[in-house]
Amino acid sequence: MAVTVVDHPLVQHKLSILRDKETSVREFRALCQELTMLMAFEAMRDLELEDATVETPVALAHVKRLAGKKLALIGILRAGLVMVDGILALMPTARVGHIGLYRDPDTLRPVQYYSKLPSDVGERDVFLLDPMLATGGSAAAAIEVLKEKGATRIRLLCIIAAPEGIKTVTDAHPDIDIIVAARDERLNDHGYIVPGLGDAGDRLYGTR
Ligand code: PRP
Ligand code: URA
Repeated sequence: MAVTVVDHPLVQHKLSILRDKETSVREFRALCQELTMLMAFEAMRDLELEDATVETPVALAHVKRLAGKKLALIGILRAGLVMVDGILALMPTARVGHIGLYRDPDTLRPVQYYSKLPSDVGERDVFLLDPMLATGGSAAAAIEVLKEKGATRIRLLCIIAAPEGIKTVTDAHPDIDIIVAARDERLNDHGYIVPGLGDAGDRLYGTR
């Protein structure tokens, strides 16, 4: 298990705009996609390559191509959808799955209402996507669902994580790699990340 904070200047700059409460719904959505693409570079750093050759207009070139397992992008509904779109822009042939979870506002425990995964998810490199890792209950439950379906290599990408959420996931699933753009200070009494960015789903879809 490893936790990686992607501290690239471009990521940190975009994150600063994302956090701003004055950022519009449209810009918020675009930034989430862009941040996910940038984070994907780090998250996919250890994908296997194989040797190949291609003919350029000039000569034969010895090149590297992605080898190994195919990818599955799993978005936690709702907010994870925008991250799926970000990676699909880079890797359009990846298969996509969805896990529907919401946090009960009183208990903060995740409630599952939907799951549709690629049938061969167990044979794929899985990227689990959700912008917010707060208590960690939603991510831990989603990982449980994926493992029940046979997934073995799972990476969790979240834009902002609270220390509490990282601990919950690493305690329950020590085999998971976590990639974040920021590790924030703490959760508040309502389970929101401080300073965070507010409710990601509402800011993405203008539902507040
Ligand atoms: C948000 C977020 C995560 C979850 C994180 O979703 O997108 O899925 O909260 O919280 P946790 O780590 O404490 O479980 P939310 O429950 O608001 O659902 P929504 O995306 O449908 O609005
Ligand atoms: N879910 C969000 O969207 N934001 C938080 O800060 C915590 C959970």
